[in-house]
Amino acid sequence: MCGIFAYLGSKSSIKECLNGLKLLEYRGYDSAGIAAIKNNKLIHFKASGKIEALEKKINLKDLKLDLAIGHTRWATHGSAIEKNAHPHFDDKQNVAIVHNGIIENYDILKKLLISKNYKFRSDTDTEVIAQLISSNYKNDLVESTIKSLKELKGSFAIALIHKNHPNEIIAASRESPLAIGFNDKKTEVIISSDPNAFSGRNLNVIFLKNDEIAHIKNQEIRIINLKNKTLKKTFEKINAKNIKFSKKGFEHFMLKEIFDQPSTIQKAYLGRMTENEGLVEFEDLKLSKSFLSKIDNIIITACGTSHHAALIAKSLIEEKANILVSAEIASEMRFKTPILTKNTLVIAISQSGETADTIAAIKTAKEKGAKILSIVNVENSSLSRISDSSIFLKAGIERSVCSTKAFSSQITVLYLFAIFLSRLKSMQKKEAILLLTELKKIPSKVRKILKNTSIIEEKAKKYSKFENFFFLGRNLMYPTAMEAALKLKEISYLHASAYPAGEMKHGPLALIDSKLAIIAFSSNKKTYDKMLSSLMEARARNAKILAFATKNSYGIEDIADDVIWLDNTIDELSIFPSTIAAQLFAYFIAKIRKTDIDQPRNLAKSVTVE
Ligand code: AGP
Repeated sequence: MCGIFAYLGSKSSIKECLNGLKLLEYRGYDSAGIAAIKNNKLIHFKASGKIEALEKKINLKDLKLDLAIGHTRWATHGSAIEKNAHPHFDDKQNVAIVHNGIIENYDILKKLLISKNYKFRSDTDTEVIAQLISSNYKNDLVESTIKSLKELKGSFAIALIHKNHPNEIIAASRESPLAIGFNDKKTEVIISSDPNAFSGRNLNVIFLKNDEIAHIKNQEIRIINLKNKTLKKTFEKINAKNIKFSKKGFEHFMLKEIFDQPSTIQKAYLGRMTENEGLVEFEDLKLSKSFLSKIDNIIITACGTSHHAALIAKSLIEEKANILVSAEIASEMRFKTPILTKNTLVIAISQSGETADTIAAIKTAKEKGAKILSIVNVENSSLSRISDSSIFLKAGIERSVCSTKAFSSQITVLYLFAIFLSRLKSMQKKEAILLLTELKKIPSKVRKILKNTSIIEEKAKKYSKFENFFFLGRNLMYPTAMEAALKLKEISYLHASAYPAGEMKHGPLALIDSKLAIIAFSSNKKTYDKMLSSLMEARARNAKILAFATKNSYGIEDIADDVIWLDNTIDELSIFPSTIAAQLFAYFIAKIRKTDIDQPRNLAKSVTVE
């Protein structure tokens, strides 16, 4: 994780860095820091915690400098204290560096440097890079960087400066994204971990590939490889001038993003379906229909919330298109031997498109010749760039670490994709028309939930007194329960485990007593009666039960202590009302418990380390 932002240009570099880091803060908020060169000396500012704390330490008036590098940290090596905040320096305070990634051989290098009398001040792997570059430095910063990078094992995106090179920044990348952009007038160069920090600007951008180095000197950018050979590169235009971040009057980004959903769900299907024809088409799909119609095996890989979307897609595609689907957690898939044939499609799902585990899983599958389709929110992300084709969620930027609108957009796109594949196989027009017509009704059903959140808030108050929760569901309501439990854990720091309700009697039932709350998702007609039986068994053991149920359900109010009633829809779409009501439930509990809702402890929005 971690966010890197560096600036060289006509404006106040430190101010620009602070603004850039704020846009990258979702990548980590354990500490932050900035380094620059003033009167031929390195200067720096560091603070543990959020950018706000760093900002308070800086008096911008005395600091009209042309160049600066900045960092916002998600701790890997060394605790989240100020001495471990980036930038890190060499012993002589000549080199300052910011880093995202993990140096796997840092310990060996550190011992070697210590044996040569280099003194270390932090517990980080990053400090090793600064010391190494300094030890290899003989007046040529590019050469010493190249020499040092060759000695490193692991992943990195770095930006560094040297006190003897006041007009230069060097940036480099290996298995960790880094983008370099400049404006048309060539008065500003910006280095950023991802394009989110380009908002408000119109830039010409390049994304560094593995072992590429950008040497920026007086706003001139040269891209070289590890042989110091200049590479010919084409910069692409990214116009993010009109992108602005605002909570739009909501107390938290999470709440704003929950309320965005009627419109973001619509954006995910608009222009992609003709419901009265039962047809689905995706713009710019670069996979041929002849390939897609022959697919007999799909592997979907993702992490966290995106993995829950994958589990839902598995059920939908298997049921509707009769294609075998496996949903693999990306961090596990890398170490398995997936069966890939010429008729296999690998799908990666990711909001950010920067999740290191997902990217690593995809790269392994790609090396084995698999075709990759990514379903991703952030255009120009690393994942979309390495995929054969992408379908974008069009959900807009999701700021809250806790994913909400991206999930409902993923489900929308995957639902459409299941219908699209099924139509290439044997799904009849009539069934497709029904499924698409029902999808179109979802935004208004979601709006109804959002109009009356007080019922959910009231239940949240009651259930916020519990410390332990079981989230239960069956069929499509099981991944829904998993997603709802993740929301609660993530932002309220409460223990919540999700189970398929039928599994309770195979062990978890032993944990039930009056101190445990059960959150039940019963909006699945196929499994409704069985769900009621499982809840009866829990009730008989004194559990408190809150059920999310559709209005046409019978009997649930006699078993559950509380019911949140949701609009009826078809089983395939019941995920939407249930999930969105559960997002609000988690939000209100977290609010009562006064947690940091948008930036929960220990987490980051983009998980860019494996
Ligand atoms: C969701 O609320 C989480 N913050 C997390 O599980 C997230 O979904 C996961 O890290 C995957 O991220 P991605 O979709 O950006 O790849």
